[in-house]
Amino acid sequence: MENVKLEIDGKAVEAAPGTTVLQAAKSLGIKIPTLCHDDRLEEYGGCRMCMVEIETKWGRKRLVASCVYPVEEGLKVQTSTEKVMRIRRMIIELLWPAWQLYAEEYGVKSSRFKTGMTDCSLCGLCLRYCSEIKKANVIYFRGRGVERKPALIEGAEMQCRACGECFTLCGSGWIASRC
Ligand code: FES
Repeated sequence: MENVKLEIDGKAVEAAPGTTVLQAAKSLGIKIPTLCHDDRLEEYGGCRMCMVEIETKWGRKRLVASCVYPVEEGLKVQTSTEKVMRIRRMIIELLWPAWQLYAEEYGVKSSRFKTGMTDCSLCGLCLRYCSEIKKANVIYFRGRGVERKPALIEGAEMQCRACGECFTLCGSGWIASRC
């Protein structure tokens, strides 16, 4: 299959079909911020931090999550328009205080929102790593909406402490604090 030709921030790039916009941007050295993405894990598309603005070859414009959106012929991608930056700032506020990784970069000093979350961004990295890489499946999401939070299966603390591989993936330190 032929490579797909597109443009990211005005730069032409070619990528194999199925490549995500995030991967294509990376190949150009263009940094798009991510929270729930990890190259070793299945695509997830949960946090929307990697949002970019696209324009299809038919002139249709919209916002998409670049970590799950595949490249398309003739696509024009803008990674840091005012609209995109506004959304990222809002996401940083919504996930506050769990993810302050990008707060300084985006000039966010505090959050206007009361999310009900104390320390977990619900990025799912720990439980996806536990399931996909370790095949241990000891972490899961419990509850819905603002009640949704990660949890360990009963008696898994020792096992988690002995493994600890997902601790570094967790921006909030939630998982390490529970083991
Ligand atoms: Fe793309 Fe989370 S990094 S949706």
